[in-house]
This record gives sequence, C-alpha cells and structure tokens, in this order.
Amino acid sequence: MSKICYQSALKTNCFNIVDVGAGVGHLSRMLAYQYGFLVSTLEANEQLNQMAYKLDMELENKLLRKGISHSNPKRILHFNYRVDESTTSSQIMSIIKEAFQSDNGQFKFGIVGLHPCGNLGSMLLKLYNNCSNISFINIVSCCYMKLSFESNLFTGYPLSHVCLKKQFKLDYLSCETACHAIENYVSKLKTENHHHLKIHAFRAGLETILVNINLDLKHSAVGNVKYEENMTFEEYCDRALKKMNVQIPKSKMKDVEKMVEASWEKVVKFYSARLFLAPLVESIILYDRLLYLAESNSHCNIVPVFDCKISPRNHVLRAEKIFAKEY
Ligand SMILES: C[S@@+](CC[C@H](N)C(=O)[O-])C[C@H]1O[C@@H](n2cnc3c(N)ncnc32)[C@H](O)[C@@H]1O
Repeated sequence: MSKICYQSALKTNCFNIVDVGAGVGHLSRMLAYQYGFLVSTLEANEQLNQMAYKLDMELENKLLRKGISHSNPKRILHFNYRVDESTTSSQIMSIIKEAFQSDNGQFKFGIVGLHPCGNLGSMLLKLYNNCSNISFINIVSCCYMKLSFESNLFTGYPLSHVCLKKQFKLDYLSCETACHAIENYVSKLKTENHHHLKIHAFRAGLETILVNINLDLKHSAVGNVKYEENMTFEEYCDRALKKMNVQIPKSKMKDVEKMVEASWEKVVKFYSARLFLAPLVESIILYDRLLYLAESNSHCNIVPVFDCKISPRNHVLRAEKIFAKEY
C-alpha cells in the first residue's frame, strides 16, 4: 500500500499525505520512515492516536540505537478528528493546513485510507472529487454493510451518475455478504472436518434470539468467535456477547441449540451459495466508485495488492489528478 502511494506521489509530484482512519499508524510509519512522505493522520479515536505516537517514538529510538538512517523529514502529526458526512472541502483544508503548518492556499496532498469502514470510504472519495488540493487518493474499502443507501443526509452507494441514474440499489444483506472471505471459505470446505463451519449457524441462531428479545438488537456487532472442537451453542453465545449487556434465558438457548444442531449443514450450503454472489456485489460497489472517479476525469483504476487469503478486502481503488499537460 505504501509503495502504491509512492507511485502516486511520483506521478503527481506530491509527497504530503493524510492517512484517514489510521488506527495505530502502521501504514503512516511506512510512508514516513521508509518513503519520506510528510504524513499527517486523521483518526477519530484519540486512544489509537496516542498509541500511534508511542509506536512512532519506539521506532525512532530503535533506529537511533541501531544507527539506521531513515528518510522521514518530519514527525508524523496524529490528529484526533472525525471526518463525517457533512465535512466540506474547506473544513478539510483548514485542518490539513494546520496539521502541515502551511498557510499556502494551494497546498497539495494525497489521501490514503486502509480499510475505511462503510461511508468513510465514500466520504473520502467525495472529498477527493470536490477538493482540488487533493492530488491523489488510494483506499482499500471494507464493511460495505455500513454504507447508507437511501438517506437524505448522505448516500454512500451509489456515487456515480451512471448508477444513480439507473437507480441501482443494494441492501444490507448483499453488502454484508460482500465482506466475507470466499477464498478462505473454499479452503475450509475442502477440508475433511466440516464441524468448524457450524459457526455461521451459531451466529444465525444467536441473531434469531437477539431479534426476538429486541428488534433494536438486529445486526448487532457481536464478538468474533473462533470455532473450537465440540464448542456448544451456549459457549458460543457467552463469548459472542461478552462485550454486550444482553442476558439470554437458558430455556431460549436450549430451544435454539436444537434448531442449530439439526440445521447447521443446511446453513453451510446456504452460506456457500450466498458467497458465490459476494464478489459480484463487491465488484458493483468498486466499479460504482471507479466510475465516480472517472466522471471527474481522474486517472483511476483498481489494483489487487494483498494476498486475499490474508486480507480478503484486497483491492486498492486509486486515482490521481493528472491533467493532459502534465501527463
Ligand atoms: C478498520 S480500522 C483501520 C485502521 C488502519 N487504517 C489499519 O488498517 O490498520 C478503521 C479506523 O478508522 C477510524 N475511523 C472510523 N471512522 C472514522 C472517521 N469518520 N474519521 C476518522 N477516523 C475514523 C477508526 O477509529 C479506526 O481506527
């Protein structure tokens, strides 16, 4: 990802970069210390910013101790900032100018987003299209089910005129499916012991219970649980609900457990059939975004950069504002 950003920087002659949703800043450090970018991050979670700063210092100390020189001209500036649906180009510009301590109205920078969830990816693309100071953008999308579809406030999908005009529609279920890892699932199906595939039936059983308790609990982000040999439904629920304040009556659990045990193989078949469509849905979202960028005359493309078995959302959507004279 950092190499892709470096290529964009060379093409646009812009070595200032903003990592949005930077987390603890692993990518930012690569950009700064390996590629010599001037880096600023915009991260909504202040705790992650503090951890990122600590890791920057640890890296600097380590490099110093080992006598290794690096190309980072300036420390990374970690900004606690939430980009939201109403963030305008001029708001972003004033934050960026502050972050980079520049009073130049023509200040240019690129944007990078590694797994900006749902609408955040769409927001960044809109900022890129609307703000002439942003020279390039590279994002790897994720959590498509968090996109807003028909909201008066913000539409995360579709973005392009083509898809808007044709009134293309997606829904929560298809976008959620698009986030699953088909390549890993195929490998799991090929193994002899299929019991660990029960995990989806467990999740479906838990969903049945949660929706029954309270409709507001529908599609809750329950904890991720890895299937262990002979794990019971009750054990699964305990682990999945660890961070949620929800109590399930034991009798309810027993009833659903019977259902899960009787039907988990059907769930595997259903889930496999759904997964066939997952890459199609992801392609629809990515191509809509690509068309949106192309409509503003950017040079844009989609490049698979990661090993999809390790990182299933592996496509970088990239765009550069390179105009005829410079190209
Ligand atoms: C999936 S994580 C990716 C973190 C990092 N880029 C990485 O790949 O390791 C998404 C990050 O975006 C941050 N985030 C989510 N919404 C945001 C927003 N609207 N503005 C800024 N940061 C946001 C989250 O706090 C989280 O750290």
